[in-house]
Amino acid sequence: MRDHEFLYVQKRNDRTKAGIEKTVYGQLPDGQTADLYTLHNAAGMTASITNYGGIIVSLTTPDRNGKFEDVTLGMDSLAGYVKGTPYFGALIGRYGNRIAKGKFTLDGKTYTLVTNNFGNHLHGGTKGFDKVLWTATPVEGDEPALKLTYTSKDGEEGYPGNLSVQVTYTLQKDNALKIDYQATTDKPTVVNLTNHTYFNLAGGAKRDILDHVVTLYADKFIPIDQTLIPTGKLQPVAGTPFDFTKPTVVGTRINDSTDTQIKYGGGYDHGWVLNGTGDSLKLAATVYEPTSGRVMEVRTDQPAVQFYTGNFLDGSVTGREGFPYKKRYALCLETEHYPDSPNQPNFPTTVLKPGETYKTTTVYQFSSKKE
Ligand code: GLA
Repeated sequence: MRDHEFLYVQKRNDRTKAGIEKTVYGQLPDGQTADLYTLHNAAGMTASITNYGGIIVSLTTPDRNGKFEDVTLGMDSLAGYVKGTPYFGALIGRYGNRIAKGKFTLDGKTYTLVTNNFGNHLHGGTKGFDKVLWTATPVEGDEPALKLTYTSKDGEEGYPGNLSVQVTYTLQKDNALKIDYQATTDKPTVVNLTNHTYFNLAGGAKRDILDHVVTLYADKFIPIDQTLIPTGKLQPVAGTPFDFTKPTVVGTRINDSTDTQIKYGGGYDHGWVLNGTGDSLKLAATVYEPTSGRVMEVRTDQPAVQFYTGNFLDGSVTGREGFPYKKRYALCLETEHYPDSPNQPNFPTTVLKPGETYKTTTVYQFSSKKE
């Protein structure tokens, strides 16, 4: 390991080469050490990731003048993450999004999960994959990667089966961060993994994202009830504030209180059903920020994307440099299966059985344009 660390330090001096830098990030309350890995590509983009929660601590991408800035919300230190954030940058599992009342039935047996959100189960429970220490293996190369593994024990947060999870972050040459998820189980269980990065493409997250221009390649969305659980029916976006099929300024209809769904979500906090089927990567979303010129394209093989506009941010979480993150200072695009699928027979299944391999990929690609 010492040789490795030496290698990282060497590479740090040559920013024109791709590489990985490793530093100790800090001590967890139980005495374990978390590390911080900074992946950088030859184009100058960096992705800093800690093995605590697999959290993306920062992502620097160029604006239209080539200026690199962090486009994520995050904390200054490990202690900040341990104290608690609304899932900034984190890996989410075993089930991303909500499971109604924290209950589901599989093969005739009812399982009771930890409830942590208005009586429902959210993002894997009180100690989800965002709050555990993963084992990290850095993979050097032109496209540096960080492989994270974690074994979620049978019964953890109420889920059946020992689940072996592997997530690999790869920083590609073309300024894209690829996330590959894989999992296997020894008992039938449910799985829905995602990443919960909060983006503000203006850089530095110093203002809201209402000017961001978003396109979602989805003709339908997933309506919810007051507790943000799907009603079970899908609704066409046409003629609603949920129509992002053409590039649309986020703020245009986000406060349309005449729309029940906007009211329930406190803005956008819904799943959009992505057009196209099959296992191949498809364009899910494009985001453009006009002042910086930054563009983000999200590709995935998942059936849906949760578009969340930071409606619950209220300035109480103080992020980097002591800056308070206020309402709608970021947006999330969480690629995933539909919320509450374990209880919704009409939704695509999220059941994983022994002998099967859960395998999905999402790519966040960054570029910029003049106007
Ligand atoms: C998800 C949910 C939101 C909210 C955030 C975290 O995106 O859909 O309702 O809980 O996580 O605050």
